Amino acid sequence: MKNKIAVIGLGYVGLPLATEFAKQYKVVGYDIDQSRIKELLNYKDKTGEINLVDFRKVLKTKQNEFLAADKGLFLSDNHEDIAHSNIYIVTVPTPINDKKQPDLSHLLAASKMISQVLQKGDIVIYESTVYPGCTQEDCVPVLEKGSGLKYNQDFFCGYSPERISPGEKKNTLTKIKKVTSGSNEATAKKVDDIYKTIIEAGTHLAPSIKVAEASKSIENAQRDLNISFVNELAFIFDKMNIDTHEVLEAAGTKWNFLPFSPGLVGGHCISVDPYYLTYKSEKLGYKPSVILSGRNVNDQMGAFVASKVVKLMLNKDIEVKGAEVLILGITFKENCPDIRNTKILDVYNELISYGTKVDVYDSVAKKDEVRKELNIDLIEDYTHKKYAAIILAVAHEGFQTIDFQTFKSDSSIIFDAKSFINTKYIDGRL
Ligand SMILES: NC(=O)c1ccc[n+]([C@@H]2O[C@H](COP(=O)([O-])OP(=O)(O)OC[C@H]3O[C@@H](n4cnc5c(N)ncnc54)[C@H](O)[C@@H]3O)[C@@H](O)[C@H]2O)c1
Repeated sequence: MKNKIAVIGLGYVGLPLATEFAKQYKVVGYDIDQSRIKELLNYKDKTGEINLVDFRKVLKTKQNEFLAADKGLFLSDNHEDIAHSNIYIVTVPTPINDKKQPDLSHLLAASKMISQVLQKGDIVIYESTVYPGCTQEDCVPVLEKGSGLKYNQDFFCGYSPERISPGEKKNTLTKIKKVTSGSNEATAKKVDDIYKTIIEAGTHLAPSIKVAEASKSIENAQRDLNISFVNELAFIFDKMNIDTHEVLEAAGTKWNFLPFSPGLVGGHCISVDPYYLTYKSEKLGYKPSVILSGRNVNDQMGAFVASKVVKLMLNKDIEVKGAEVLILGITFKENCPDIRNTKILDVYNELISYGTKVDVYDSVAKKDEVRKELNIDLIEDYTHKKYAAIILAVAHEGFQTIDFQTFKSDSSIIFDAKSFINTKYIDGRL
């Protein structure tokens, strides 16, 4: 039987995936957010993750045309439209709650919806990042309950974690080797074969769903920990009046020294996924000390950046209370509009707590979203004031060619939190 795919959740992960599959298969892209479907039907993608030319080629805006075609993408916010698919791929968010514990609500809601249309022989593949065991222990019971079907007898599951990094233009979906897995040998092969048809870099078939889930959670935990080590070095060397980057440059001349730089760790992957792993570990009776202490260090970086800037201001006899400060960049990552868990908010809040007046400029972020999610009104123009301190917080391409003379006074502080500006222009960095 020809694969008819439904992709559930059309965000950073789901939309590129649906677009790629639609070059070869019939794909229904479903999202509960009506405004997201509307935006996409107007050929606009707020995530900036897809090639709009490819997207236009595969998109079928009329349902009858889609039904008659043998491939293409149909977008819908009506869950009835996903019925009659035989492969369901779940790409919904897996955030953490206020207690930094996994919030599976989107994942379970999507599973429940699929369970209403699930038929014998169907495969449900999860791509959302989860902890080891989540697919089979949390999602499968929901699928079974809603469908009345039996797991691994009537329907089957797969897990294939997504590895894209938002804003990354070179290592995109098809260029990254994809880990695949399935609930039994035959399903694992089917899942692997499906991905092989779109992933140029090839696939790695993991021996079980649990292994595939675990592999994803450690990829991000490893990166988080490596950064936490250099962030801790930044705290230590600050006390010693040593430039951390100069130390890293010297140490980096050894063949096996790993190249990581200190920085703010935000976003909804690296700063969130480790909590999925630690949650499950704690449930099983082991409190992970290394992973959690890395998280703890990384969460202190926003306050550290603000304190460094304030110290530099005091050293130049700049009155901190009431000082005008400019933050350049609010997104969690360069050249990407994603503001989820941006740690620049910590820098902003800390600077406000010192009594400074803070402006934030970011031409990549979406103004309305920043207002709604972070309660910050982005400024349109940063050249109309002379700021006492300027913080380069995100290395957007557009910031690399900035002429600082236009908006700095002679005594202004320039702090480079990303170490991407020539050091001759700056007063401090992480
Ligand atoms: N963004 C990344 O770079 C990235 C990389 C690797 C893995 N992941 C993982 O992939 C998953 C998705 O992340 P994302 O960045 O694409 O999220 P996203 O927020 O960009 O998109 C998720 C989409 O799912 C929709 N949605 C939520 N609940 C739904 C439901 N019940 N039914 C249908 N649609 C629903 C939302 O409206 C949204 O459009 C997460 O688990 C994330 O950790 C993300």
